[in-house]
Amino acid sequence: MKAAKIREKFLRFFESKGHTIVHSSSLVPPNDPTLLFTNSGMVQFKDVFLSTETRPYSRAVTSQPSIRAGGKHNDLENVGYTTRHHTFFEMLGNFSFGDYFKRDAIHYAWELLTGVYKLQPEKLSVTVYYEDDEASHIWSNEIGLPLERVIRIGDNKGARYASDNFWQMADTGPCGPCSEIFYDHGPQVWGGPPGSADESGDRFIEIWNLVFIQFNRDAQGNLRPLQQQCIDTGMGLERLAAVLQHVHSNYKIDLFQRLIAAAARVTRTSDLEHNSLKVIADHIRACSFMIVDGVMPGNEGRGYVLRRIVRRAIRHGYKLGYKRPFFYRLVEDLVDEMGEAYPKLKMAQSHVTDVLCQEEKRFSETIEQGISILEAILSDLTERGMKVLDGELAFKLHDTYGFPLDLTADICRERGIDVDDAAFDKSMRRQREQARASAKFQIVRELDYIGGQTIFHGYDKYLCSDVTVVAVYINGISVPLLRAGYQSVIILDQTPFYAESGGQVGDRGVITNTVTHFIVSDTLKVRTNVIGHYGVLERGEIRVGDVVSAYIDIERRARITRNHSATHLMHKALRKVLGPHVQQRGSLVNPEKTRFDFLHHKPLSNHEIHSVEMLVNAEVLANTPSIAQILSFDNAVSLGATALFGEKYVDEVRMIELGFSRELCGGTHVQHTGNIGLFKITFEGSVAAHIRRVEAITGDNAVRYVHRLESMLEEAASVLKVRPIELAPRIAHLRDQMRAFKKEVIQLKSKLSTSSRDELSSRAVNVAGVHVLAAELQSADVKMLRETVDKLKNQLDRAVIVLASVDSGKIRLIASVTPGASKNVKASDLVNFVAKQVGGSGGGYSDIAQAGGNNPSRLPEALLSVKEWVRARL
Ligand code: ALA
Repeated sequence: MKAAKIREKFLRFFESKGHTIVHSSSLVPPNDPTLLFTNSGMVQFKDVFLSTETRPYSRAVTSQPSIRAGGKHNDLENVGYTTRHHTFFEMLGNFSFGDYFKRDAIHYAWELLTGVYKLQPEKLSVTVYYEDDEASHIWSNEIGLPLERVIRIGDNKGARYASDNFWQMADTGPCGPCSEIFYDHGPQVWGGPPGSADESGDRFIEIWNLVFIQFNRDAQGNLRPLQQQCIDTGMGLERLAAVLQHVHSNYKIDLFQRLIAAAARVTRTSDLEHNSLKVIADHIRACSFMIVDGVMPGNEGRGYVLRRIVRRAIRHGYKLGYKRPFFYRLVEDLVDEMGEAYPKLKMAQSHVTDVLCQEEKRFSETIEQGISILEAILSDLTERGMKVLDGELAFKLHDTYGFPLDLTADICRERGIDVDDAAFDKSMRRQREQARASAKFQIVRELDYIGGQTIFHGYDKYLCSDVTVVAVYINGISVPLLRAGYQSVIILDQTPFYAESGGQVGDRGVITNTVTHFIVSDTLKVRTNVIGHYGVLERGEIRVGDVVSAYIDIERRARITRNHSATHLMHKALRKVLGPHVQQRGSLVNPEKTRFDFLHHKPLSNHEIHSVEMLVNAEVLANTPSIAQILSFDNAVSLGATALFGEKYVDEVRMIELGFSRELCGGTHVQHTGNIGLFKITFEGSVAAHIRRVEAITGDNAVRYVHRLESMLEEAASVLKVRPIELAPRIAHLRDQMRAFKKEVIQLKSKLSTSSRDELSSRAVNVAGVHVLAAELQSADVKMLRETVDKLKNQLDRAVIVLASVDSGKIRLIASVTPGASKNVKASDLVNFVAKQVGGSGGGYSDIAQAGGNNPSRLPEALLSVKEWVRARL
C-alpha cells in the first residue's frame, strides 16, 4: 500500500466516525513562543484543548507534516543511526475535544489497525502509563490483548530510553498519560519489547501514540487539570508504511527509496545502502518544507535549526566524497515525490532551490578547512588515547568555520569521541553575554496568561468604554496593582486595539478613566485571541478588575489601514502585471508605508511600476465597498482568495474583498477603496535572490510626497531661473555647455603651458655649452612637471633641468639630464643635491630622477645653487 493510500484510508476511517477532516497547519506555529516547530498534529489544536479557542466540531482528523529537530522533541541526532527516526515526518492523528475519551480512542485504533489495515493482532503490543488501570483494563479485557503484551511504563523502573508514557507538547502546555502501540518486525531484527534492555533496537517499533490529554503544565511545572478530557493521537505515516510494505526500515518505503536513489545520483554514489544517503534523503524533506513555510537559514531560532540540518546534509555529501553543491538539486526530486500531496511545495520549488543553493555555497567556503582542522585534532586525540574533544575547540569551529555543535558531535561520534558540551556552552554564553550587554532592553512577550480571550472590536470601533482590566504584567510577572511609571502589559476583556499580526503593526493609544492614564505604545498578541497592551502608566493606578475606556490613536490607525488595503490591491496588481508567480514573501504595514516582498526574478521596469500604480489607483477611483466575510477555508480558496505561505488558517477564515482582490486576512481595512486616496510606489529593489521589495504610500502621505517632489523641482527651477517644465531641456543645455567649456579649458591650458615653457626655456643659462635651468612651476602636479621637463628637453637640446613645485608645504622636484650634456652630471645626484637643501631626498636614474622636500622657504636658494653644482662637474 502506497503512502498516499495509507493517508487517505486514515482520514476516511475517522471521517466515517464523525470526525471533520482538518487542514494541516504551518510548520511554524504562529504566535507560540513555547514551540520552535509544529512537532505533532495536536499543535494547531493547543488552544482548543485549553478551552481558550473553540471550533465548530468536537472530533477532528489530520495528516500533519511535523518537524522534530529542536526543542523538547528532537530526533536529529538519531537520523542515520536508526531505521525509524526522522527530522521531518507526516503524522496521522485523530482528536477529540471533550467528546470521546480513552475507551473509544483505543477501540478506534484497534479497529483501524486490524480491520482496515489488516495488521495481525499477534504482532501488536501496547504500553500504558504505569498508573493507568483503566487503559490497561480496556486493552486486556475489551480488546483481548494478553497481559504480557500490555506493558506498564513510566515508574522509571521500566523505560530506560525513550518513552515515559506521559506526553507533553513542550515544556508547558497540554499533556497527559499515553498508550503506545508497537509493531513487532520479527526476530530477524535486533531489539526487545518496550521496557526491556534492548528496547532501543528496531524490532519493536512504536507506530501509534494515543494521548489522553487531561492537564496543562504551567511555567512552574505544575499540572493543572483541563476543563475537558481530550484525545490526541499520532501515527507516523512512514513507520506505518514500512509495516504495510513489509519492510523493516522507513528508508525502504517507496517514497524514501526514490529520494535515496536521487541522492545517490547527485552525489555519484554507487553504494545505495550507504547511511549518508538516508541522512540526505531525510534532511532534504525537512529543509524544503521549512523553507516553504517561510523559515530562512539564520543564526538563531528556527533559522538556525534549518542551517544545522542543511550543514549536516552537506557534511554527509562530503562523507560520500562529493565536495560540490548537490543538496539543492534534490528539491526537484522531492517535488516529484511529494508535490502532488503538497501543492505549496510545488509552487515554492524555485524559491526553495535558490535558498538551499545559496546556503550550500556559503558553507562550502569554510567546510573544507573546518573538517581538516577537526580531523587533525581527532587524530591527535585518538593517538593520545583521549576520548573527549575540548568544548572551547568545538566553539571555535562553530564561531570561525560555521560548524554547529551537533555537526561536530556527529563527526566525533563516528570516532568514538565525546564533546565537552559544558565547556562549549560556557564559551557560547560568554560570547552571548558580551553581545547582550550592548543590546537594548527587550519587552517580555511571553506571558504566563491563562485567563479568557480578549473580544476584539477594532474592525469597526475606535473606542471601547466600560471594559475591564483582567490582568496586568510587569516584567512578565502578573501583578494585581500597577503604579505610575512602570513599563507593563495590560490585558482587557474587550478592546479596539489591533495586535500586531499579518504584517500590520499594533495600535497605539490610551487606556484611561477619571483617575488613571495608561499610554499604549504597542499592541501584541499574548497568545491566540489574547491581546496585550504594552506601555507605561502615566498617572494614577490600575488594578485588576478596574473599569476603563480604551481609545486608539485614530489618525495613526487610519493611515495603517489605508496602507494595508493598498497592499492587497498592489499584490493583485503585481500579479496582473508580472504574472501569477508573484507570491508574498513578507510584508510590513505601518502608518508611514507598506513594504511588500515577493517572488520575482528581476527588477521592475518603470513601465511595470507605472502599470501597477495605474491599476491600483483605478481601483481606488472605483470606490467599491470592501467586504469582510467569514467562510470556510475551502470555500474561500474556491472563490479565488489568495492564502499566504506560513500563515495559520483554521477552518473558518476571514476573506477580504477589495476591488479586484480577494485575500485571507485578519487585518483592518478601509470601508471603500476610495478611502485609500492617492497610491504611489516609492521604492523598488532586491532583498534576496529572486525576492523583490516594493514600498508604497497612500493618502495624505502620498500627497505630502508629491508636495516634496514638487518643491524640489521648484527649487531647482528657481536656481536655474526657468519654469519646472523647462528644467530638463535647460539641464541638457547646461550639460552640453559644460562639455564645450571643458574642451576649451584643455586647449587653453596647453596653450598656456607652451607659452610658459617658452618663457622658461628663455631663462636657461649657458654653462660651458650646456643649458642649465632650475625653476619653480606654479601649481603643477607630478604629471605636469614630467611633461614640461620632456618638452623642455626637446627644446633645449644639451640641457640640465631641475623643476620644482610646491603644494600645501610639500615640494616636488624633478631633475633631468639630456644624453648629450655630460657624463659627469647625473640626474639622481642632482635631485638629491637640491632635495637635501629643502629637507628631503629622492632617487632615480642618471637621465631622470624625482624627489620631495618639505622646506619651501629654502627652495629659491636651492634652485640658485644648481648652476654652480653643474659647472663644477663639466
Ligand atoms: N501528540 C502525540 C505524539 O506526538 C500523539 O506522540
